[in-house]
Amino acid sequence: MNLFLSIQFYHNLVRSYIFLCLKKSRNSAGCGVWQTPIFKFKCKDNFRTIDFYPLISVLNNLIINSIDAIEGSGHILVDQQREGDSYLFRVVDSGAGIESDDMEVLFEPGFSTKYDPITGRMSTGIGLSHVKQIVDKHFVGSISAESSKENQWTCFKVLIPKENIEIKR
Ligand SMILES: Nc1ncnc2c1ncn2[C@@H]1O[C@H](COP(=O)(O)OP(=O)(O)O)[C@@H](O)[C@H]1O
Ligand SMILES: [Mg+2]
Repeated sequence: MNLFLSIQFYHNLVRSYIFLCLKKSRNSAGCGVWQTPIFKFKCKDNFRTIDFYPLISVLNNLIINSIDAIEGSGHILVDQQREGDSYLFRVVDSGAGIESDDMEVLFEPGFSTKYDPITGRMSTGIGLSHVKQIVDKHFVGSISAESSKENQWTCFKVLIPKENIEIKR
């Protein structure tokens, strides 16, 4: 499938996340406290790609993790810009942040800090390893993360060489 990566694409994406947040806040609060993070999507370039699904899978996993990291109100920024011969995608949030010890195992399959004390269920911890595999193997790009527990922010950066994602017109 050919996709023109456009503002419209981001807007459709954000609409589905707002619903997800509303659902989450309703479930956890139980009595209808409708708090959602504030989303900002900034897309500097437009280009054609046939890699719609791998790209969506990467952004989707990162954004859902950001939503999970925010309790109540907060901010999530998803943006895209050029960096040399690559496209840089960033997902930044004002959530809980990541412990520095956890940074070493962040992309390991199975690593998760999400645990539901009521049901005893742990999250799969598969998302970031899946994301890294797509970025490394499919796009032959790179992914990195920075985070501050004290200042409560996290930033994931995905760098994809233009020639590995863009279709020339
Ligand atoms: N934006 C984020 N803010 C804080 N912690 C994060 C963020 N993204 C990922 N993490 C941490 O990385 C872990 C692994 O993420 P992931 O592989 O997606 O698995 P899961 O979401 O099932 O826990 C999470 O449990 C969480 O501890
Ligand atoms: Mg996840």
